Amino acid sequence: MINKIQDLIKEVDAFSSNNLDEIEQFRIKFLSKKGIVTELFNEFKNIPKEEKKEFGQVLNILKNKTQDKIDFLKLNLGDGDVGKIEIDLSLPGDPETLGTRHPISLVKNEIIEIFTRLGFTISEGPEIEDDWHVFSALNFPEEHPARDMQDTFFIEKNPDILLRTHTSSVQVRVMENTQPPIRTISPGRVFRNEAISARAHCIFHQVEGLYIDTNVSFADLKQTLMYFAKEMFGEETQIRLRPSFFPFTEPSAEMDVSCSLCGGKGCNVCKYTGWLEVLGCGMVDPNVLESNGIDSVKYTGFAFGMGIERIAMLKYDIKDLRLYFENDVRFLRQF
Ligand code: PHE
Repeated sequence: MINKIQDLIKEVDAFSSNNLDEIEQFRIKFLSKKGIVTELFNEFKNIPKEEKKEFGQVLNILKNKTQDKIDFLKLNLGDGDVGKIEIDLSLPGDPETLGTRHPISLVKNEIIEIFTRLGFTISEGPEIEDDWHVFSALNFPEEHPARDMQDTFFIEKNPDILLRTHTSSVQVRVMENTQPPIRTISPGRVFRNEAISARAHCIFHQVEGLYIDTNVSFADLKQTLMYFAKEMFGEETQIRLRPSFFPFTEPSAEMDVSCSLCGGKGCNVCKYTGWLEVLGCGMVDPNVLESNGIDSVKYTGFAFGMGIERIAMLKYDIKDLRLYFENDVRFLRQF
């Protein structure tokens, strides 16, 4: 009897099929109500006492092996790919899905690249600043309404501490620690207490530039910005400077570039003016140089500052500032 079961185990081991009907026949033959295994269990009572133990053990092996074989063959059959033996090695692999760079990072890196080509270094500084570095050292007199130009987040318990409203504060830190020639840009995040809308946000990013040396003139400023505009928006780009006011520059100007979308003919992006405002700039006010320990008789300098979100909006025709901060992958995947 035991030998018979051993032979059956060999038969089960040897069985293979990738046909569901055949596997089902195999199951019926061994495990159904009238199947071999069931019949053998019924035999159990007729087995002599001293053989019962071994009989039971071998029979259990047969039963388990049969069930395992059926499970295994079925698993290899279906489209469930667990345990699938036949793998088509000629199929193309599943590529890793990589993320993309945020448009702000892309544009920031592009701006940095353009200015480093001109010899500018990169300076960074703290986002939580004091009044001196954001305002006083930049020729904002105390109580002067010019401080209202930039709606500031102050720390309630100590209004001397605030979130920087521009990265000009980093340039103050550079001037404090370095003597000219200074040629640096400061990219970074800035904060202003503005109601959030399609055109304004309380957090945005800037790149500000500072160049101080002997004989730096307004012509140098203009040339630098023209180079930047053409690199950023295309060779055919024109620039235009309009008089403006900043406490830390004199004279001050705002720069427009010819609209790259309509080529200056007029469209709804440039509001049919042909021009887009992109940055503020000017010659560093001598008061600023003196406040920061730089001889304003010997040295002159220019400064400029731009919002990265704004440049990215113009470059990619993005209509709503809020998109930058919502982290919607459908938006981010486009870059
Ligand atoms: N700091 C100014 C701003 O944030 C920009 C600016 C920088 C203007 C340098 C002139 C010169 O609006």
